[in-house]
Amino acid sequence: MRVVVTGAAGFIGSHVVDALSGAGHEVLAVDAPARSPAPEVARRTWAEVAARPGVVAAEVDLAVDGLDAVAAADVVLHLAGRPGVRDSWGPGRDIAQRDNVTATRRLLAACADRPAGRRPKVVIASSSSVYGSAKGRPNREDDPLKPESPYAVSKVEVERLAGLAAEAGLRTVLLRYFSVYGPRQRPDMAFHRFVEAALDGRPLPVFGDGRRSRSFTHVRDVVTATLAAAAEDLPPGIAVNVGHPEHVAVRDAIAMLTDALGVRAEIQRETPVAGDAARTWADTRRARTLLGWTPAIGLRDGLDDQVRWHRALLEGVPVEA
Ligand SMILES: NC(=O)c1ccc[n+]([C@@H]2O[C@H](COP(=O)([O-])OP(=O)(O)OC[C@H]3O[C@@H](n4cnc5c(N)ncnc54)[C@H](O)[C@@H]3O)[C@@H](O)[C@H]2O)c1
Repeated sequence: MRVVVTGAAGFIGSHVVDALSGAGHEVLAVDAPARSPAPEVARRTWAEVAARPGVVAAEVDLAVDGLDAVAAADVVLHLAGRPGVRDSWGPGRDIAQRDNVTATRRLLAACADRPAGRRPKVVIASSSSVYGSAKGRPNREDDPLKPESPYAVSKVEVERLAGLAAEAGLRTVLLRYFSVYGPRQRPDMAFHRFVEAALDGRPLPVFGDGRRSRSFTHVRDVVTATLAAAAEDLPPGIAVNVGHPEHVAVRDAIAMLTDALGVRAEIQRETPVAGDAARTWADTRRARTLLGWTPAIGLRDGLDDQVRWHRALLEGVPVEA
């Protein structure tokens, strides 16, 4: 199977490449590390990814470069994009449009342009943010979409493009990822910022009062779901939640994190970010039925794993993510 992974220098994409390489697949890893919100981190990860067995790495900017080689695959796992609610206000809005919407539109067009019978299946990273805040129950995939930030709006547009491509005969699948954490988590994400602050002896910078809650999902579980979505025969255009079925308040997650770190930490409250959902909460029934997937990693164990990775980085020892 010829597999392309876009966003391969990123947090989730690099783990997906590791898993595919470990299973003996040939992988074309695609990224444009300069487009990452943390380009230096992405360049470092890119070098690691490119050295994996069976991996060919190609620097391609999906929003401008030719995509014939990317589309010439059996499966494209499209994980490239500009993540992040906070950064999508202001100049980040245009970046989200470019690297989420334009990049996906071009990729889908290149895949649809392939001769019939040789068009790849395209699995696309979407986000729980398309739902807005969950109310009294977990969000199901057929709930109305209520994006509350330019980032979330860009993901809704991505989903519409995938739906149109499916109507035109392309096999697309949308994975709505929920707050992913674990080794190599992006530096702008909450747990990463909390651990770095705690290890530095600084107060933990928390947006709001810590009551917001999330279906925190470990990256290894996300990889399992993503590979299952690539393998299973699914209805074209379908969306599937990839999130832990329990939602945990940020302040409770912080208690687990400081326990994992073995420190007491002060909290520094920061102004809440507009468009940051009060609660994300995944209904996982569709993922269980269609992908045979339920998350295997609980938050406390998953946080231990992420803390180990931060400590190893800090100590400069080779990091096994
Ligand atoms: N991490 C999460 O919790 C989370 C939650 C929901 C959805 N997602 C989505 O999952 C995907 C991966 O997220 P992540 O956390 O790994 O982000 P990341 O920033 O670590 O990885 C994204 C990668 O995409 C690359 N990229 C951006 N624009 C590109 C372009 N035009 N051409 C080629 N490469 C480009 C970046 O260089 C980066 O390496 C994103 O689409 C994100 O929106 C992530």
